[in-house]
Amino acid sequence: MQPRSTVAAPALPPFDYTVFGGTGDLALRKLLPALYLRDKAGQVADGSRIIGVSRSPLSPSDYRAKAEQAILQHVPADERDTGLIARFLERLDYVPVDATSDDGWRDLAERLENPPAQRNGAVRIFYLATSPGLFGPICDQLRAFGLATAESRVVLEKPIGRDLASAQEINDRVGAVFSEQQIYRIDHYLGKETVQNLLALRFGNSLFEPLWNANHIDHVQITVAETVGVEERGGYYDQSGALRDMVQNHLLQLVCLVGMECPISLAQESVRDEKLKVLRSLKPIGPDEIGGCTVRGQYRAGAVAGGAVPGYLDEPGIPPGSGTETFVALKLEIDNWRWAGVPFYLRSGKRLPAKMSEIVIQFRPIRHSIFPQAAGELQANRLIVRLQPDESIRLHLMTKEPGPGGMRLRPAALNLSFAQTFGGRFPDAYERLLMDVVRGNSTLFMRRDEVEAAWQWAEPIIDGWTARHEMPKPYIAGTWGPSQSIALIERDGRTWHDDEIPSAAF
Ligand code: BG6
Repeated sequence: MQPRSTVAAPALPPFDYTVFGGTGDLALRKLLPALYLRDKAGQVADGSRIIGVSRSPLSPSDYRAKAEQAILQHVPADERDTGLIARFLERLDYVPVDATSDDGWRDLAERLENPPAQRNGAVRIFYLATSPGLFGPICDQLRAFGLATAESRVVLEKPIGRDLASAQEINDRVGAVFSEQQIYRIDHYLGKETVQNLLALRFGNSLFEPLWNANHIDHVQITVAETVGVEERGGYYDQSGALRDMVQNHLLQLVCLVGMECPISLAQESVRDEKLKVLRSLKPIGPDEIGGCTVRGQYRAGAVAGGAVPGYLDEPGIPPGSGTETFVALKLEIDNWRWAGVPFYLRSGKRLPAKMSEIVIQFRPIRHSIFPQAAGELQANRLIVRLQPDESIRLHLMTKEPGPGGMRLRPAALNLSFAQTFGGRFPDAYERLLMDVVRGNSTLFMRRDEVEAAWQWAEPIIDGWTARHEMPKPYIAGTWGPSQSIALIERDGRTWHDDEIPSAAF
């Protein structure tokens, strides 16, 4: 195992994080645990505050009790420290505010304008962990009550709208209060360690970049599979579906990082400019290609991890006969010099057999074989970037099987497991991103033009589905989606990478 760098996390200025939707699932499950873990790591300056805001009439001590429960539930046991939890809870405050009326806003303003005595200045951040319909009204109120200062920042959770027009409307409304530099649109996939590692892999090594193009790559597969169903989020999810919930944002961001040119630096605009070019190069999937290039699925009752689970239509909050997809598979192309003719196969779904996110770069077969007896055994090289769980990078190679008796070839993998190599805990994506906002670094956040370009490509697919009046194809929970997803890739003479081959450690 390689020792991790012992460089201490750089000190950050004190902050006031005001979390709208402060009692919601995201705040309790992700944001508060992430802020606690950063506090534990020594990154939260004294005098920093986290102010939960929602309509619920809670007192600050009720909120602290809720936060404590959330930390105990969602922070790994070996990271819970009674003393540090108590210190973190001290930083918490709560103000009941109604986003759509004037109720509570004066109290919030008063709280923000009266910081703890011991600190000198602070970064003011508003985190909108609410439904996107409230982004505009909240920003209007922040302006009306004088809270949106020139130095403050606003964080928007996805989804930014449900199509191009609604995304533009939100962006306009938020943009009327905050400048683009003050707006941080979160896509938490960009905060995942292995996603950032794509940049290191591609641009920190000389090995791959010369091969990273249509001359050497046959196709790319991106799978983001989940075992969970829609849980308590049926109301939101049924209005969204897998394409809006996962593809328009997370999977397209992964496509960008795989597909983009080398940015001139890691500076925020350079990286975002290159991602934008990929989004703008996506070949539109028009009405004639919908049937051949896309598959929608919806899970039926089945079994996941040995336990019976209900079908989508029997989940709480799902209207009878809903036609929302819980699975999507797509074939897309990046229409540019580097990638012309290389298909990217994407799939994502709920209630699949495993929680697993992976990018597979499938190289072309060798040009000429000198191993006639091994003809059927020769497999083209494959690079697999496992985003979660068990973060790793594996390179599948052909090797000679040891022993006498001729030249028998066998595939094996070089396996760079991050846990084995570096050890320790990998910070959750939100830990990185929440602190990037404090730092004022928006490299890993989406710019307005990126979000809109992603909708521009995704919306015709949704329109195409609507025009065809087709219900999603059923699949049994615990399987890899409808059979049409397998057909989508097999029609091209390829298969999804669901298998595993033995790996040899580096
Ligand atoms: C969210 C989606 O953005 O990402 C959820 O809204 C999904 O539906 C989640 O479950 C998946 O994130 P992760 O980090 O668990 O892969």
